[in-house]
Amino acid sequence: MCGIVGYIGNKEAYPVLIKGLQRLEYRGYDSAGIALINGGTNIYKVKGKVKDLEESVKNKDISGTIGIGHTRWATHGEPNDVNAHPHMSENGIFTVIHNGIIENYSRLKSKLIDRGYSFKSETDTEVLANLIEHIYKVGNISAEIAVRLALTKVVGAYGLLVTCVDEKDQIIAARKGSPLVIGVGQGEYFFASDATPIIEYTNSVIYLNDNDVAIVTKDSLSLKTISNEKLLPKVQKLDLDIGEIEKGGYDHFMLKEIFEQSKSINDTFRGRLAIDNKDLILGGIHQVMPKLIDAKRIIIIGCGTSWHAGLVGEYLFEDLAKLPTEVEYASEFRYRKPVIYKEDIVIAISQSGETADTLAAIKLAKEAGATVIGICNVVGSSIPRETDAGVYTHAGPEIGVASTKAFTAQVTVLTMMALLLGRKRNVLGDEKFLKLLNELSQVPDKIAEILEQSDDIKQVSKLYSDAPNFLYLGRGYLFPVALEGALKLKEISYIHAEGYPAAEMKHGPIALIDEKMPVVVIATKDKSYEKIVSNIQEVKARKGVVIAVVTKGDSVIRGMADYVLEVPDSHAVVSPLLTVVPLQLLSYYIAVLRDCNVDQPRNLAKSVTVE
Ligand code: AGP
Ligand code: GLU
Repeated sequence: MCGIVGYIGNKEAYPVLIKGLQRLEYRGYDSAGIALINGGTNIYKVKGKVKDLEESVKNKDISGTIGIGHTRWATHGEPNDVNAHPHMSENGIFTVIHNGIIENYSRLKSKLIDRGYSFKSETDTEVLANLIEHIYKVGNISAEIAVRLALTKVVGAYGLLVTCVDEKDQIIAARKGSPLVIGVGQGEYFFASDATPIIEYTNSVIYLNDNDVAIVTKDSLSLKTISNEKLLPKVQKLDLDIGEIEKGGYDHFMLKEIFEQSKSINDTFRGRLAIDNKDLILGGIHQVMPKLIDAKRIIIIGCGTSWHAGLVGEYLFEDLAKLPTEVEYASEFRYRKPVIYKEDIVIAISQSGETADTLAAIKLAKEAGATVIGICNVVGSSIPRETDAGVYTHAGPEIGVASTKAFTAQVTVLTMMALLLGRKRNVLGDEKFLKLLNELSQVPDKIAEILEQSDDIKQVSKLYSDAPNFLYLGRGYLFPVALEGALKLKEISYIHAEGYPAAEMKHGPIALIDEKMPVVVIATKDKSYEKIVSNIQEVKARKGVVIAVVTKGDSVIRGMADYVLEVPDSHAVVSPLLTVVPLQLLSYYIAVLRDCNVDQPRNLAKSVTVE
């Protein structure tokens, strides 16, 4: 994962690097480091966060108009000062920061050791730094050629920035599998893993593609492939507002993002949900619509929260479009030799658009000839560029590691797709289509109503912030919500939590229930309401504590549950979009009470670009 930043121009690089690292810290926070070029190369790096780095450089020489910086999510070697990036080659000729994994690092390392190289760190990145240096010295060639040749020997993924003491006025950038964007300014260039560190300086950017190498001075940029074919850089305009990537008065990004959901869903609707014309327009999948209409099967792939959104998608596509749908963990799908037909539609869901397993699963699906559609949040990221068609969620930047508004935006897109497909396949009558379109359009206002109860949810969270375990139960459309609620709680509060289909409880988990076990039951009024009421009784009969998410005004469950959190009445099809919100808030408040780092939970990173 890791965040990469770089600057070359006339300004002091340090402030640009530090600010950029702060913006990218969500990608990894095991260590932070910078290299500043000013005659020589000054490297500062420490275990911990960007603020620890800032602390450590007080009274040090931080001048220089060229610099690179890194925030790490460790893959090779524990998080410590030595393994922190940047890594310098043995003779100090090259300085490298890297996002990704050099898979054949061990073989390359042994060869370099045979040639007299020694290593200070346990990282795969230092191997690359020494490999570049070795090729450079033996071949007596330019830095650029040495980098390109070294990369032909590498198996794995990288987003790289490299500087060379002999060619002080340039930064070399390269990418394969890990993202890299270059911002184009006036007599200056910015580098970063995503556009957020760049936006306040320029909105002209170049996204590197796999196997691209950029050789950049403050006044020039030349782009080529690693095999030395010249490329024409494609400068694109960024559409990102600086306010969107700041906390805006909230204590945490996660809370801000939870509270943004009325707005973000309206943004997802924009230009698509034409309620007055009783229509839905999804331009991004228009050209593949004939294939979608004739499809025999949909396969949805994703990881984590995006997989949960996919599971809601399965219910939606089967219910509204009568299309058989399977949902797969991208990591399992890619290694399982799955049977994929040319007529299959594969939908890849990802907030970041960079998740390595999802990208690899997409490649597999494409090789098998399937049509691949992306549902992604980050515009210009790798997945939208790899897929045949797609729909952006337009939720705006999501910085909190725990996904919230991206989930509701993904489910919104899936609902729109299923409705559209149901109609185009003539399995969803006009009346039901319009009713559901109308229900969907009311979701933002209903979410606003739920958010007004945040204080009540805070009170409930106080009662259970010390619980060691939680169980989450739901049925039908609300089963994926139970999984998502449990994931939110475990990732930010470190409380063990499990989500189950409510009816499965009696096949095992019921053994866990006693008076210390909070059970969150998502039980709004739908066709399995009576059944889930019985499940609540089963929990109560074993003295479990029930926190129920119910339809406003439900007096039956209020009479039996310990606490109820209400959501406005809605059709079951849109109920995941509403019921997930109190669960997001519940986890948030519990995590805050437990003094956890909500936005940057331990061991996690926002964008999982390693397999
Ligand atoms: C969600 O809260 C997680 N942090 C994580 O499960 C995430 O959803 C997963 O890593 C997938 O990421 P993506 O949507 O960017 O592909
Ligand atoms: N493999 C490198 C390291 O462990 C980079 C890690 C990453 O990009 O996540 O330092």
